[in-house]
Amino acid sequence: MPGFPRRFGRQRGMAVGERRFAIPLSYRTSVEIYRSQQMKVTLKPSAGRSAVRVVPVFSEGGGKKNSSGLEPAVAAVVKKACSSGIFSAKKGEVLPQVAPASSAEKTLFLLGLGPRKKLDGEVLRMAFGNLGRRLAGLAGKRAALSLEQGAATLCLKKLGGAGAVRSIVEGCRLGAYDYQSQKGGRKPRKPVSTLVLESGASVVKELRAGLKLADACVEGVNLARELANTPGNYLYPASLAARARSVARSSGLRCKVLGESELRRQKMGGILGVAQGSDRAPRLIELEYNPRGKAEKTLVIVGKAVTFDSGGISIKPAGGMQDMKFDMAGGAAAIGAMKALARLKPKLRVVGIVPSAENLLGGSAYRPGDVLRSASGKTIEIINTDAEGRLLLADALHYSRRFSPDAVVDMATLTGACVIALGTHASGLMSNDKSLARELLKVSASCGERIWELPLFDEYYKMVESKVADVRNSSGRDAGSSTAGAFLGHFIKGVPWAHLDIAGTAWRQTPLGYNPRGATGTGVRLMVELALSMEA
Ligand code: BES
Ligand code: MN
Ligand code: ZN
Repeated sequence: MPGFPRRFGRQRGMAVGERRFAIPLSYRTSVEIYRSQQMKVTLKPSAGRSAVRVVPVFSEGGGKKNSSGLEPAVAAVVKKACSSGIFSAKKGEVLPQVAPASSAEKTLFLLGLGPRKKLDGEVLRMAFGNLGRRLAGLAGKRAALSLEQGAATLCLKKLGGAGAVRSIVEGCRLGAYDYQSQKGGRKPRKPVSTLVLESGASVVKELRAGLKLADACVEGVNLARELANTPGNYLYPASLAARARSVARSSGLRCKVLGESELRRQKMGGILGVAQGSDRAPRLIELEYNPRGKAEKTLVIVGKAVTFDSGGISIKPAGGMQDMKFDMAGGAAAIGAMKALARLKPKLRVVGIVPSAENLLGGSAYRPGDVLRSASGKTIEIINTDAEGRLLLADALHYSRRFSPDAVVDMATLTGACVIALGTHASGLMSNDKSLARELLKVSASCGERIWELPLFDEYYKMVESKVADVRNSSGRDAGSSTAGAFLGHFIKGVPWAHLDIAGTAWRQTPLGYNPRGATGTGVRLMVELALSMEA
């Protein structure tokens, strides 16, 4: 059966009794084919022969701001499309038009940017996300976009050269991503479409800086997406650790993986407890980036990686359960951010910690009523085996202290309650440190990944105390996101810490702008931005 993971016997380097599953070869090759490669963006004085010319248009119509510097015949096409009502230039609207005979390209893609006054980095990223999706479909073709004509000049003026290029490149390349690695076995690799940004201006060096930052982020985000989209039978704690190892090797990061026996030695009863019901052993993955010279600060990024969450004995309803393969999106984002940061080389130390387990049911699964002893020594009464993420994080947050961090940020698809509160349009932010929370809100606004603060009142800390143990892993439905946050807070007292609940933002049923269907890779750009801001 192609692609079906076969169980192997004991392999070299394995402890007696340890079980391991083979990673099918077809998977190994398919993950190498990053969908980020569907789209490439380059910067040149002139695009040369291209199939398509992209013409960005503000919704104010075919006026001067849209057409200054455009070839008159092209400006006429824009004007006609707007006045005839077939194109209103709303944000992200894409309209293909036959190019005038005088153009070098056969086709024009009019791209709506919405009203001029509302333009910001995120609007541009969203609009170009839709364009990226269309361009990826042109397998192998080249498109051109002049940065020195029409609406584009205004974008550069308003957002700065680097800022505008960054949004355009991120939008385009992120929008081009589509997870189909598992379709129809091993297919020939799709040719890569290219967008050439034309600029001969003196600011080209600044534009290159924007391109470099965007490329690093895109590769990190698309890695996170690929990991989170990968089904649970392929991606489980050991195979996630193997992927992290290979990322570390190619990016020059230090990587350490704690296996089951090491987790036992560290007394990580939370991770071990959750993993008990699965044949797949848990891992704790540690990635470390160290700058050249002395690092002034340390940022620790923790990510929940439950490779499949069935709910355990407190089993989830069947409807929608298939999506719970993305319950490792926090861990995936941590790994993606580490990859991006390894390329950007900021002047601070960054450590990624990814606790990983599978939450299943079985003869040895942990049960409601059990009491687990976490690495910190605090005991946890299990009320609901579906509140498993916080058990992994309790151990990982405690572990993060050994790096004497200036800040610890965890990302987790932690609660359905957060989806109820904020939907898919913002991640929940909870923090024990005002200035860290402020910093996160600031970088959130600049990178476009929305977050919204929820409270961590003392009462929420109280609500998760237990009668029989130190804390309990659930206190019912009330304030579900905040009580989950407070539970985590019990394990990281005295360290500036923030928790991001990405349950609503890490996965989409339908594409929106640069976010595709499925895993979005949320958290990667936010962590990159935070690290860069801490460096300064
Ligand atoms: N992984 C889920 C949270 C989740 C739900 C993420 C929906 C994305 C979409 C988490 O492990 C969970 O099951 N949480 C429970 C906690 C409850 C039992 C206290 C929840 O939210 O229902
Ligand atoms: Mn759960
Ligand atoms: Zn979960």
